[in-house]
Amino acid sequence: MIVFGLSAGHLAGSIALHLKAKLGKVESKHFPDGELYIRFLESLEGREVVLVQSTHPAPDKKLVELFFAGRTAKELGAKKVIGVVPYLCYMRQDKRFNEGECVSNKMMAFLLNHCIDKIVTVDPHLHRVKSLAELFHIEWRTVSANNKIAEYIAKKFKQDSFIIGPDIESTQWANEIANKIGFKSGIFLKTRNSSRNVSLKEDKKIEVKGKRVIIVDDIVSSGHTMLETIKQLKRKGAKSIDCICIHGIFAENCYEKILKAKAKIVSCNTIRHKSNGIDVSEEIANSIN
Ligand code: R5P
Repeated sequence: MIVFGLSAGHLAGSIALHLKAKLGKVESKHFPDGELYIRFLESLEGREVVLVQSTHPAPDKKLVELFFAGRTAKELGAKKVIGVVPYLCYMRQDKRFNEGECVSNKMMAFLLNHCIDKIVTVDPHLHRVKSLAELFHIEWRTVSANNKIAEYIAKKFKQDSFIIGPDIESTQWANEIANKIGFKSGIFLKTRNSSRNVSLKEDKKIEVKGKRVIIVDDIVSSGHTMLETIKQLKRKGAKSIDCICIHGIFAENCYEKILKAKAKIVSCNTIRHKSNGIDVSEEIANSIN
């Protein structure tokens, strides 16, 4: 087995280490006109090839790079090409919300179905699509960050802290993690009015006055979900607010906005960012094995 890190393959080194596999050299750059150039500097003949590529920032570029690298690895005789995509983009565009729209998750999957033999990804956003089987006809494996997040919370916070999920979908992270470590948890009801506007329903049963609260969600994208949740929790008198996300996209300076709202935030390292505080590379390596 040989592991390669593409331009967003920052986890390749530690995944290779956990797998006790060689970290291979691949050149990936752009010509002056923006076109992509890929060259493997190792022999791939008969080998299992792992291509590590997260898909943020610049999701389209990252996808095309993985597509080129995957197809090339096959042409060069790789026995099996495994795409490790710690953050899998486009999963939230899972239906035609308005007439004429592209259902983007299907297009993303179409590309990957045609360039790799297996996909491994961390907590893909599954909502209307319930399983990757609905999108992929290649082998797939999802890795959960829940154990690592639970370990992190158990180490940093006392058991009387409260875990909050901002919306129903976050139950699979917030409640599950809370149950693992015996913390109390609550889930808000969120309505998304637009990509930059969400509202949370007041929930009297969530009592956090004087408590340390930890908000857990899968993705921070525009940050409005976190910011609204922080607002609600402050109104309810929370003593301190920490946010944890798996995939920190942090569009439109929302990382800074969250800090300005006097909350702390830590992310898993599926997307490289200064907030990375929870390493999921071992979980990924285990799932490749
Ligand atoms: C949605 O269901 C997700 O779990 C996240 O809550 C959402 O993607 C966060 O988006 P934003 O940061 O733009 O509010």
